[in-house]
Amino acid sequence: MERLIVKLGERSYPITIAAGLLNDPASFWPVNRGDNVMLVTNDCIAPLYLDCLSELLIQDGVKVDYVVLPDNEQNKSLTVLDQVFTALLTKPHGRDTTIIALGGGVIGDLAGFAAASYQRGVRFIQVPTTLLAQVDSSVGGKTAVNHPLGKNMIGAFYQPASVIIDLNCLNTLPRRELSSGLAEVIKYGIIFDAAFFDWLENNIDMILALEPQALAYCIRRCCELKADIVAADEREHGQRALLNLGHSYGHAIETHMGYGNWLHGEAVAAGMMMAVRAARRFGQFSDVAAERVSALLLRAGLPVSGPKEMAAEDYLPHMTRDKKVIAGHMRLVLPVMLGKAEVRAGITDDILIASINDC
Ligand code: NAD
Ligand code: GLY
Repeated sequence: MERLIVKLGERSYPITIAAGLLNDPASFWPVNRGDNVMLVTNDCIAPLYLDCLSELLIQDGVKVDYVVLPDNEQNKSLTVLDQVFTALLTKPHGRDTTIIALGGGVIGDLAGFAAASYQRGVRFIQVPTTLLAQVDSSVGGKTAVNHPLGKNMIGAFYQPASVIIDLNCLNTLPRRELSSGLAEVIKYGIIFDAAFFDWLENNIDMILALEPQALAYCIRRCCELKADIVAADEREHGQRALLNLGHSYGHAIETHMGYGNWLHGEAVAAGMMMAVRAARRFGQFSDVAAERVSALLLRAGLPVSGPKEMAAEDYLPHMTRDKKVIAGHMRLVLPVMLGKAEVRAGITDDILIASINDC
């Protein structure tokens, strides 16, 4: 079992990583006998893991209710969020309840926002079941729902009390979703850790084959990198923004194509290649490094260009609504070299269009 701590003073919390945690009641600290829990999950994950988890908690003396939401990114919405509030109020649950998010990034982001806002904030535990959620979205407290006009536009920073990563959950994850998670994994190598990028080049096939040791190391390294950056810049006033490499382009793709048609990781992968092309226009990031990123994304089963249906001009309205736009000026996370990235100001429409067309 691996245990990391996200160091945020009184709000510090553990990330526990191991196979089989969903069968071990001790994993669910700080939930205790007599506590109330609302499990939030969806209709894809419920048949796989809901009974097992609720029985485990009930046997441990916990009072368990659950709400099963419709699957998919288009349901990361205010309307579906309201179903969680209705379930909480109907039972009813008070301020002493604990919301447990059992699912991928969609459930984690939505249930996290429910926890942040229900009765002005209740305890929250993340149980991420996709690779993407295990390496990124469950750690760091970004919670949100989408708006038809933009991804993640309504949300809050709200940290969980604990993140419980059961590696066995990945055994049921469809291959396309595993690839989607690898986009965020590769992102960490590009922006922070060239040695990890090298390791990924040597081990990507093992990860795709769910080889336990490679998988455990990969998830631990990503969580370490994320925990460090969140501890240093919880509210994204500085270096946390680097985690958004490729996301401005990616969010434009997800919003324009209709939520769920391009998976988050697929859109981020194409977006990272666009950011690489933009960096090349500033004389940064060598052709060799660009080729290595493209090759690794392709080996991970990810796209390296945007949807054919989208013209470069289609990205711009979405990108100008991006959260990284300050006082109307577009900023973009650009890679400098493998293992280093920066936030670059003064990005013009011409640079954006060229970077999209270059891919
Ligand atoms: P997802 O939550 O939609 O899960 C992908 C699919 O896999 C869904 O159909 C889901 O039901 C299914 N699934 C989940 N676990 C499964 C399992 N173990 N076995 C079988 N099927 C399973 O997508 P995701 O890729 O996990 O998350 C994407 C979301 O995360 C996006 O909304 C994105 O904006 C968000 N995100 C948030 C952060 C953050 O910091 N909060 C970071 C990155 C991404
Ligand atoms: N996934 C970006 C962040 O957590 O900041």
